[in-house]
Amino acid sequence: MSDLADRAKRVLSPVLGHYTWLPLERGEGSWLITKDGRRVLDLTCGIAVTPVGHSHPAVVKAVQEQAAKIMHMNVGVATTEPAVVLGEFLGEVLPGGLDTFVFQNSGAEAIEGALKLARQATGRESVIAFRGSFHGRTVGALSVTSSKSTYRRGYGSLMPDVHFAPYPYPLACRIAPPHDEDACTTHALDELDAMLEHEVPADDVAAVLIEPVLGEGGYVPAPPRFLAELRALCDRIGALLIIDEIQTAFGRAGAWTVAERQGVRPDIMTLAKALGGGLPLGAVAAPRELHAKWQTGTHGSTFGGNPVSCVAGLATLRVIKEERLIERAETVGRVVEEELAPLRRDDRVRQIRRMGAMIAVEFADKGASKAAIAGALERDVLLITCGAHDQVVRFIPPLNIAEEDLRRGVRAFVEAAKAVQQPATA
Ligand SMILES: Cc1ncc(COP(=O)(O)O)c(C=O)c1O
Repeated sequence: MSDLADRAKRVLSPVLGHYTWLPLERGEGSWLITKDGRRVLDLTCGIAVTPVGHSHPAVVKAVQEQAAKIMHMNVGVATTEPAVVLGEFLGEVLPGGLDTFVFQNSGAEAIEGALKLARQATGRESVIAFRGSFHGRTVGALSVTSSKSTYRRGYGSLMPDVHFAPYPYPLACRIAPPHDEDACTTHALDELDAMLEHEVPADDVAAVLIEPVLGEGGYVPAPPRFLAELRALCDRIGALLIIDEIQTAFGRAGAWTVAERQGVRPDIMTLAKALGGGLPLGAVAAPRELHAKWQTGTHGSTFGGNPVSCVAGLATLRVIKEERLIERAETVGRVVEEELAPLRRDDRVRQIRRMGAMIAVEFADKGASKAAIAGALERDVLLITCGAHDQVVRFIPPLNIAEEDLRRGVRAFVEAAKAVQQPATA
């Protein structure tokens, strides 16, 4: 154990879970360099935060220049340019008239803001969320989270009037086999109807909140039919559709947003992670007319829209646009899929799935997934898991990763996964 890890264990709370204790000196594009000079390929992007790699020169330059100008001004006290320019940029790349923003510091805060906006604008209270979703750790965001029951342990009552419907996740579907996507989607929609019939009056529903690809819950894309039905439902009952694109936006899923890719119009979109290009930043995006219903002074934040975070985000989004990294996400995803092919014949691999450069290998149990990522790390490749039982290994490579590095990294993982699966015969 390194000295840094020992010191970290003394000062950082044991409440924080850790995939590894790698003691980092710096990041360089797709690579992490440890204190003792080891180079580790980062296929996590720090959980989907650094799509253009670590410390990209354009992002570093923007941060340095802004830091030398002004690092903080509360948005309510005076106006700085970066949040405005970022808002203008987002208005151009986001779908469906999402042109007005409240900037926040994190994904959970963006979710809090979205829930408050939905409740105030509709004058209704109920929120429908989906089983397996992850929306954050603050009390409101945790109330709509159900990817793992452990996240709620010991916290007692959370925000009331939240109701969970099944997410169309065929491998986790509780109906009798065959669990194909279509049957699973129909089942999820039927359950939603039953919820409205028996538990939640339709005209009490303020919002339906969904991740268009389950993130922490297992990297599971929602079928376009499901998203279209949610849009139609919201229109029918007068509820707002909140699409949480905190983990999926800005090229990761092969489009600026999954909403655009799947042709579904959100009323509210939540953004964070890649939005800040490595610095803390979140946003509640909605059309101007909806934001106009949010009473002035009823929401706010000291740091939200921090100018240094905004320039880091803006520089990142410009690199994505100029270097055509959205198109590249598809190539990156295909390369990972190609290299994973040997695992398709493996009994302990239940499914390999992807959207853009969000790739998942679902194992039959968490023993196999955990052992595979441990083996990958021994081979200097960093990967993390997701899913209710950590049974899924997720690949979140930088969108500008060199193809050679990516191929080598995925091969190392495949080798590690195979080594785990044949321990007795090896
Ligand atoms: C889809 C989604 N929503 C919300 C969050 C919460 O974001 P944060 O950790 O920045 O609060 C996450 C974090 O993983 C996420 O993946």
